[in-house]
Amino acid sequence: MRLLFLAVLRRHTGNAVTAERVREHLEAAGHICLLKDTSDLESSSEIAHFIKAEKLEAALALHLYRGGRLLQGHGIPFGIIFGGTDLNEDINQREKNQVMGKVLEEARFAVAFTESMKEMAQMQWVDPVFTREVKAKVKRTPGVRLLREMPQEDLHAALKNCFAVLNSSVSEGMSAAILEAMDLEVPVLARNIPGNAAVVKHEVTGLLFSDPQEFVQLAKRLVSDPALEKEIVANGKEYVRMYHSWQVERDTYQNLICTLEGSTEE
Ligand SMILES: *[C@@H]1O[C@H](CO)[C@@H](O)[C@H](O)[C@H]1NC(C)=O
Repeated sequence: MRLLFLAVLRRHTGNAVTAERVREHLEAAGHICLLKDTSDLESSSEIAHFIKAEKLEAALALHLYRGGRLLQGHGIPFGIIFGGTDLNEDINQREKNQVMGKVLEEARFAVAFTESMKEMAQMQWVDPVFTREVKAKVKRTPGVRLLREMPQEDLHAALKNCFAVLNSSVSEGMSAAILEAMDLEVPVLARNIPGNAAVVKHEVTGLLFSDPQEFVQLAKRLVSDPALEKEIVANGKEYVRMYHSWQVERDTYQNLICTLEGSTEE
């Protein structure tokens, strides 16, 4: 493949060395890799022209913000390699942060040099490859709609109009959404993983399923058994009132802070 490799190439910097090394790897695999300094190709039209003139088929950028940004919208696939400043500096500036999120959505892959850089990126921008997969899948599935984030009041209003709230997560955590549904008296159907099982007791405060077949079976049961629905909803509401109340949380934090007061006096 004929590749454009865009990087910040000030001489004798770590970047230049890294870029050169990556270029060698790619050329060793038979690709043609044109390594360019971002300062030589600064405008989008210059890049478009270069891509066309050199018949480039794909691109790579070292630095998401300084390089990746310039590769957007040229109609060729590209990947990016995170640079240190992406995650140490640029991430903290709102506009740059948003630009980087957009670049990541378009990028086919992203490389981070360390596990901690990867985690930081994943935390900032909720995994672009996965996001793309989910969006594509939802598009192909009739009856399923993907909604963007919305203000909490709107979400609660929408929730109240739902027959049930489903949590099919396979990764652990603590679901505030489930507790909110319980508080709003909407029945909960959740995958049986420890995080969910900690708040949903099967057939008491909600229904737990382990696989798609069981989900279908329980959903049908919930639809056809109003007494069960009523009981689950009542128990859920009571559970939230007892164990997750705003007042209890307030008291707990206020008490915990008091324990700090004592220790500073000594
Ligand atoms: C679903 O459940 C998981 C595990 O408890 C939790 O981390 C996640 O936030 C929940 N998501 C929703 C939308 O309820």
